[in-house]
Parts: sequence; C-alpha cells; structure tokens
Amino acid sequence: MKRIRIAIDGLSASGKSTLAQGLAKSLNYLYIDSGAMYRAVALFALREKLIDRQGQLDEAGLTAALDRVFLTFRFNPVSGRGEMCLNGRNVEMEIRTHEVSRHVSLIAKVSEVRNKLVRSQQQMAESGGVVMDGRDIGTVVLPDAEVKFFMTASIEARAQRRHLELQKRGRKVTLDEVTANLTERDHIDSTRHHGPLKKAEDAIVIDNSDLSIEQQFEHMMSLVQDHLNG
Ligand code: DC
Repeated sequence: MKRIRIAIDGLSASGKSTLAQGLAKSLNYLYIDSGAMYRAVALFALREKLIDRQGQLDEAGLTAALDRVFLTFRFNPVSGRGEMCLNGRNVEMEIRTHEVSRHVSLIAKVSEVRNKLVRSQQQMAESGGVVMDGRDIGTVVLPDAEVKFFMTASIEARAQRRHLELQKRGRKVTLDEVTANLTERDHIDSTRHHGPLKKAEDAIVIDNSDLSIEQQFEHMMSLVQDHLNG
C-alpha cells in the first residue's frame, strides 16, 4: 500500500489537529503539527526577550538568533504522539499557553522563520506516510500532497472549542478573550504576505460547525481510502 502525504489546513481551533491525529493513528502515519513549531519559535522569542512589553518583536534579533533554534518532535508512547522539543527540552505544555498564542502570529509573519520551518517540514515529509496540519501545508509546504483538506468552522464554534480546551487545562481565560485572540490571529494569518492561510485549489473543504468529530473523521477517512484504492 502506498504511503501518501495528507495536508490539512484551516483556521485556528477549527479542529484540524484532532482530526489530523486521528487520521495519522488509523493509517499508522506520522503526525506533524506545524503550528507547534511556530509556537516553539514564539516561546524562544519570549524567553530571549525579543518581544517587549508592548508586544513589539525585535525581528532582526530573532533572525540573527534563528540558528540557535533546534526543533524536534519526541515520540511520547503515553500520548501516542510527537511532542515539541526546543533545543532538546520538551516544551509541549509551555507552547500551549495563552501568552504564546497571543504572540505566535507575529512570529509566523517573519519570512526567515517561515523559510526555516518550511524546509524542515518538507524534509520530515520526504518519505511519505505523513499527516501534516497548519495554514500553508497544501499551498506551500506540500503542494504535491496527494490529499488536501481545508477545515473551517464558525468563530462561535471555534471559540467555544478552544475555551473548553483551555479550561480543562486549568487556564483562567474568558470566552471573550479567546474569541478576540482567534479573530486577531485569523486576520494576521490570512493577510500576511508570506505563506498566508489560503485554501489550495485542489483542497476539499470540511465545514465542521455542525458536524461531530466522528462524522468528520468518517468523511475524511473515506476520502483518503478512495484515494488509496483509486
Ligand atoms: O495551529 P496553531 O493554532 O497551533 O498555530 C499557531 C500559529 O502558527 C498560528 O497562529 C499560525 C501559525 N502557523 C502558520 O503560520 N503556519 C503553519 N503552517 C502553522 C501555524
């Protein structure tokens, strides 16, 4: 059976990663969370004080420091997925904080950051058998991916989903704050010059506002199977 590349792009909190992980697990493929890599660079920038109190990024400083950023995924047999490591240290928890979410779009606009991460994502997908999710996977990272999905959902559905997720992790953040963060990130991610969030022409749109995870999974899996059998 051939081992293909599946690209999943979409808005923040549209449920991409849950479905990408589910598909990867069923197919016994590698799951690559490209957003985690941008988040890890944002964490690095915060730690190195390259973002000031006003939220201004020292872009030249970050560009110069990029060769000190080593990103790897380390497989965790308990969670069954690769966890993000920054310079050899597991940062899977730190990269999910609201603080990192607030600054990550700023980091993802920097061309040098994108070039570095896109190269590394392409290398990881080289031998196939991967599901990768993000914003520019079907358009820039893997334009030749055999199957591409573009996920979307209403802002209300997405904010509720992300709010619940943060609450489960004990984070004190209001639904309004989450809605504001998602709206702002959607805007920055869709309007940036380099690698904006955009549907690839050949991507299949999945609007999951009113579909359960199981329904979406079945639908996506049957499209993948059609491709594998076709
Ligand atoms: O999927 P996520 O919310 O964890 O992504 C975090 C940020 O990283 C998001 O605001 C946009 C950026 N990102 C990107 O620009 N390109 C990608 N391929 C993945 C994420």
